[in-house]
Amino acid sequence: MMRLDKFLTENEIGSRSQVKEYIKKGMVKVNGVICRQAEFKVDETKDEVMYSDKIIKYKPYLYYMLNKPQGVVTATKDNVDKTVMDLLAVDRKKDLFPVGRLDKDTEGLLLITNDGELGHTLLSPKKHVFKRYYVQCGKEISESDRIALEQGVDIGDEKNTLPAKAVITGSNELELEICEGRFHQVKRMLQAVDNNVTFLKRITFGSLVLDKDLRPGEFRELTDEEVELLRKDIG
Ligand code: URA
Repeated sequence: MMRLDKFLTENEIGSRSQVKEYIKKGMVKVNGVICRQAEFKVDETKDEVMYSDKIIKYKPYLYYMLNKPQGVVTATKDNVDKTVMDLLAVDRKKDLFPVGRLDKDTEGLLLITNDGELGHTLLSPKKHVFKRYYVQCGKEISESDRIALEQGVDIGDEKNTLPAKAVITGSNELELEICEGRFHQVKRMLQAVDNNVTFLKRITFGSLVLDKDLRPGEFRELTDEEVELLRKDIG
C-alpha cells in the first residue's frame, strides 16, 4: 500500500506538489471514483489508478542503463565522491542498486535496478555472463599476449582467469570479453601480460549493449525487450 500522491510521483506523472494539485482538481480516479485525498492509500498491485482518464500501471521493477563517466564511484552512498546514484535523476530511487562495479576511472555500461533477483543472478559466478570491454593499453598487444588473455592468465588469485575473447582493434587497443567479475580484473589481466590499461570502457553486459546515444553521465530506462534478453542470459 502507498499514498496516492507518492504512487503518481513514482510513476512520473509530476512532482509531489504537481500531483497534489491534480488530485485536488479531481483529475485522479481510484477504481473508477474520483479521489481528492493525496494521502489516500492505494494497493499498487490491485487498485486501478487513472490520471486524466488514462490507467497508470505500477511497475514494481525499474531497470536503467547508465553510461558511467570517469570520476564517479559505483556505490549508493559515498562521503567523498559523487556516486552513480547521484547521476540517476529519477523520483523513485529507493532500493535501486548498481549491478556490479566499475572502477572510478572506468567508463561505460552500468545496469541499475531494484530487481534484486535479476541483479544478483547476473553477477553469480556460476552464470558466466559475458561483459565486453574496450581497452586502451600503454603498450602494443602482441598476438601471443592476445592468445594468453584468451586462454587465461595468472592474476595472483588461486586460479587463472577463465577463457575469454580478445580482439585486437588497434595498435594499443583491444576488446576483451570476460565472463567473471574479479576485482580490477581487466587491469590485472593486462598487467599479467606485462602491459597496463590507460582507458577502460564497458560496452556490453550479457545481451545488453551500451546505447551509443548515451553520453557519459546519461542514462535511460531499459526497453521490455532488453529486460527479457537479460532474463534469458541467466536462463
Ligand atoms: N576490470 C577492471 O579492471 N576495472 C573495471 O572497472 C572493470 C573491469
